[in-house]
Amino acid sequence: MSEPLKENQNLVIRRALTEDAVELNEFYRNIILETDHFGYEVDEFHITDEQQEHTINMFIQADNAILLVATLNDKIVGNLSFRAGTSKKFQHVGEFGVQVLKDYWNLGIGKELVQCLINWAKKNETIYKISLRVRADNKNAIHLYKTLGFMEEGILKGEMMCNGTLHDLIYMGIVVD
Ligand SMILES: CC(C)(COP(=O)(O)OP(=O)(O)OC[C@H]1O[C@@H](n2cnc3c(N)ncnc32)[C@H](O)[C@@H]1OP(=O)(O)O)[C@@H](O)C(=O)NCCC(=O)NCCS
Repeated sequence: MSEPLKENQNLVIRRALTEDAVELNEFYRNIILETDHFGYEVDEFHITDEQQEHTINMFIQADNAILLVATLNDKIVGNLSFRAGTSKKFQHVGEFGVQVLKDYWNLGIGKELVQCLINWAKKNETIYKISLRVRADNKNAIHLYKTLGFMEEGILKGEMMCNGTLHDLIYMGIVVD
């Protein structure tokens, strides 16, 4: 069971703002050091603060994409990014990634972030389905997604390479129309 947040800890889930760029980059650099489940290796993350600001701005302008941050007492401790396709045939479906700093795992923050995405997608007139890919051994993430109604749709064999080892990914999805 997730431990509930203490009442004095002020968890806020909100859209990322351009002024979050520096802290968000620092957050990503910490996540890369803490977990193998993020898409970048430590020597591959070269996004400047200006580029991050530009990316955040693109998310703010987009109708079918969203970048969320979870802040606890004003510190970014979690993040979620979702983008739907750009062509007419794929604009109704998109994938997301979610990360929480290790010190804050099992407090329900990941669940709040994904629930916020689902709520947003339900109100969005274009989005029909949310998908994700998760490493088959990422048990807490898989548990979290299943709790929120995501279904396993298939296995992508050897899709991810971590330190020379191939890992299967599970493709999951939820219809939100
Ligand atoms: C996956 C991740 C976002 C979850 O964030 P979180 O804030 O810890 O998530 P929550 O606290 O909302 O939920 C975690 C759930 O997993 C459960 N859990 C923890 N360890 C578990 C395990 N070994 N097996 C099964 N379930 C487990 C918790 O009990 C909780 O479930 P509950 O609410 O039913 O009690 C976080 O672990 C993370 O950032 N991991 C690194 C990046 C990552 O893997 N991202 C996902 C890539 S697809």
